[in-house]
Amino acid sequence: MERTLVLIKPDGVERGLVGEIIKRYEMKGLKIKELKSLVPTRELAEKHYEEHRGKEFFEDLINYLTSGMVIAMILEGENAIKCVRNINGATKYQDALPGTIRGDFAYKDTYNLVHASDCQASAEREIALWFK
Ligand code: TYD
Ligand code: MG
Repeated sequence: MERTLVLIKPDGVERGLVGEIIKRYEMKGLKIKELKSLVPTRELAEKHYEEHRGKEFFEDLINYLTSGMVIAMILEGENAIKCVRNINGATKYQDALPGTIRGDFAYKDTYNLVHASDCQASAEREIALWFK
Protein backbone atom coordinates (compact mmCIF):
# COMPACT_ATOMS: atom_id res chain seq x y z
CA MET A 1 0.00 0.00 0.00
CA GLU A 2 1.21 3.46 -0.88
CA ARG A 3 0.34 6.82 0.69
CA THR A 4 0.18 10.23 -0.95
CA LEU A 5 -0.47 13.79 0.22
CA VAL A 6 -3.37 15.55 -1.47
CA LEU A 7 -4.44 19.18 -1.10
CA ILE A 8 -7.69 20.72 -2.25
CA LYS A 9 -6.47 24.27 -2.84
CA PRO A 10 -8.43 27.43 -1.89
CA ASP A 11 -10.27 27.69 -5.23
CA GLY A 12 -11.56 24.13 -4.82
CA VAL A 13 -12.92 24.89 -1.36
CA GLU A 14 -14.27 28.34 -2.36
CA ARG A 15 -16.08 26.90 -5.40
CA GLY A 16 -17.75 24.17 -3.37
CA LEU A 17 -15.96 21.33 -5.15
CA VAL A 18 -14.69 19.47 -2.05
CA GLY A 19 -17.32 16.73 -2.21
CA GLU A 20 -16.98 16.29 -5.97
CA ILE A 21 -13.18 16.04 -5.73
CA ILE A 22 -13.11 13.61 -2.78
CA LYS A 23 -15.77 11.47 -4.49
CA ARG A 24 -13.46 10.90 -7.45
CA TYR A 25 -10.66 9.57 -5.21
CA GLU A 26 -13.07 7.36 -3.28
CA MET A 27 -14.61 5.97 -6.48
CA LYS A 28 -11.11 4.85 -7.51
CA GLY A 29 -10.83 2.88 -4.25
CA LEU A 30 -8.44 5.21 -2.44
CA LYS A 31 -8.90 5.41 1.32
CA ILE A 32 -8.77 8.60 3.36
CA LYS A 33 -6.33 7.99 6.23
CA GLU A 34 -6.19 11.58 7.55
CA LEU A 35 -8.08 14.75 6.65
CA LYS A 36 -8.07 18.29 7.99
CA SER A 37 -8.84 21.85 6.94
CA LEU A 38 -6.56 24.82 7.54
CA VAL A 39 -5.42 28.14 6.12
CA PRO A 40 -1.74 27.45 5.44
CA THR A 41 0.87 29.87 6.76
CA ARG A 42 3.36 31.36 4.32
CA GLU A 43 6.08 29.28 5.96
CA LEU A 44 4.18 26.04 5.36
CA ALA A 45 3.32 26.96 1.76
CA GLU A 46 6.92 27.91 0.96
CA LYS A 47 8.25 24.66 2.45
CA HIS A 48 5.64 22.68 0.56
CA TYR A 49 6.66 24.25 -2.76
CA GLU A 50 10.38 24.66 -1.98
CA GLU A 51 11.38 22.91 -5.25
CA HIS A 52 9.83 25.89 -7.10
CA ARG A 53 11.49 28.67 -5.06
CA GLY A 54 13.02 31.27 -7.40
CA LYS A 55 10.78 30.44 -10.37
CA GLU A 56 8.76 33.27 -11.91
CA PHE A 57 5.43 31.84 -10.72
CA PHE A 58 6.55 31.18 -7.11
CA GLU A 59 5.13 34.34 -5.46
CA ASP A 60 1.75 33.97 -7.18
CA LEU A 61 1.68 30.32 -6.18
CA ILE A 62 2.37 31.06 -2.50
CA ASN A 63 -0.16 33.92 -2.42
CA TYR A 64 -2.73 31.58 -3.94
CA LEU A 65 -2.13 28.65 -1.57
CA THR A 66 -2.30 30.91 1.50
CA SER A 67 -5.39 32.84 0.32
CA GLY A 68 -7.98 30.66 2.04
CA MET A 69 -9.01 27.33 3.45
CA VAL A 70 -7.24 24.23 2.17
CA ILE A 71 -8.21 20.58 2.71
CA ALA A 72 -5.17 18.39 3.37
CA MET A 73 -5.47 14.62 3.27
CA ILE A 74 -3.48 11.44 3.19
CA LEU A 75 -4.84 8.93 0.68
CA GLU A 76 -3.82 5.30 0.67
CA GLY A 77 -4.08 2.58 -1.97
CA GLU A 78 -2.15 0.47 -4.45
CA ASN A 79 -0.08 2.87 -6.56
CA ALA A 80 -1.85 5.78 -4.88
CA ILE A 81 0.70 8.37 -6.06
CA LYS A 82 0.23 7.63 -9.77
CA CYS A 83 -3.51 7.04 -9.47
CA VAL A 84 -4.15 10.38 -7.77
CA ARG A 85 -2.03 12.32 -10.26
CA ASN A 86 -3.97 10.70 -13.11
CA ILE A 87 -7.27 11.67 -11.47
CA ASN A 88 -5.99 15.25 -10.98
CA GLY A 89 -4.83 15.66 -14.60
CA ALA A 90 -2.12 17.80 -16.17
CA THR A 91 -0.76 20.84 -14.32
CA LYS A 92 -1.98 23.40 -16.86
CA TYR A 93 -5.74 23.69 -17.33
CA GLN A 94 -5.39 23.81 -21.13
CA ASP A 95 -3.50 20.49 -21.17
CA ALA A 96 -5.68 18.65 -18.63
CA LEU A 97 -8.00 16.16 -20.30
CA PRO A 98 -11.77 16.00 -19.74
CA GLY A 99 -12.55 13.43 -17.07
CA THR A 100 -9.76 14.68 -14.82
CA ILE A 101 -10.38 17.15 -11.98
CA ARG A 102 -8.30 19.88 -13.61
CA GLY A 103 -9.64 19.05 -17.07
CA ASP A 104 -13.22 19.32 -15.90
CA PHE A 105 -12.99 22.32 -13.55
CA ALA A 106 -9.80 24.41 -13.94
CA TYR A 107 -9.86 27.34 -16.38
CA LYS A 108 -7.01 29.71 -15.50
CA ASP A 109 -3.29 29.69 -14.72
CA THR A 110 -2.14 28.82 -11.19
CA TYR A 111 -5.69 28.04 -10.01
CA ASN A 112 -5.62 24.31 -10.64
CA LEU A 113 -7.67 23.12 -7.66
CA VAL A 114 -5.56 20.24 -6.34
CA HIS A 115 -2.07 19.13 -5.39
CA ALA A 116 -0.73 15.58 -5.16
CA SER A 117 2.73 14.23 -4.34
CA ASP A 118 4.74 13.26 -7.44
CA CYS A 119 6.91 10.42 -6.06
CA GLN A 120 7.50 8.41 -2.89
CA ALA A 121 10.15 10.77 -1.52
CA SER A 122 7.84 13.77 -2.05
CA ALA A 123 4.94 11.92 -0.45
CA GLU A 124 6.97 11.16 2.68
CA ARG A 125 8.28 14.72 2.91
CA GLU A 126 4.86 16.31 2.32
CA ILE A 127 3.00 14.00 4.71
CA ALA A 128 5.51 14.85 7.46
CA LEU A 129 5.10 18.56 6.69
CA TRP A 130 1.28 18.70 6.70
CA PHE A 131 0.63 16.05 9.38
CA LYS A 132 3.34 16.57 11.99
P1 TYD B 1 4.23 21.52 -10.50
O1 TYD B 1 4.79 20.81 -9.31
O2 TYD B 1 5.06 21.59 -11.74
O3 TYD B 1 2.81 20.91 -10.92
P2 TYD B 1 1.84 19.85 -10.19
O4 TYD B 1 0.94 20.64 -9.28
O5 TYD B 1 1.07 19.24 -11.32
O6 TYD B 1 2.71 18.87 -9.46
O7 TYD B 1 3.88 23.02 -10.11
C1 TYD B 1 3.32 23.32 -8.85
C2 TYD B 1 2.24 24.36 -9.02
O8 TYD B 1 2.81 25.58 -9.50
C3 TYD B 1 1.20 24.01 -10.07
O9 TYD B 1 0.18 23.17 -9.54
C4 TYD B 1 0.70 25.35 -10.50
C5 TYD B 1 1.91 26.23 -10.38
N1 TYD B 1 2.57 26.47 -11.68
C6 TYD B 1 2.36 27.64 -12.34
O10 TYD B 1 1.60 28.51 -11.86
N2 TYD B 1 2.97 27.86 -13.56
C7 TYD B 1 3.80 26.93 -14.11
O11 TYD B 1 4.36 27.16 -15.21
C8 TYD B 1 4.03 25.71 -13.41
C9 TYD B 1 4.93 24.65 -13.97
C10 TYD B 1 3.40 25.51 -12.18
MG1 MG C 1 4.30 19.16 -8.17
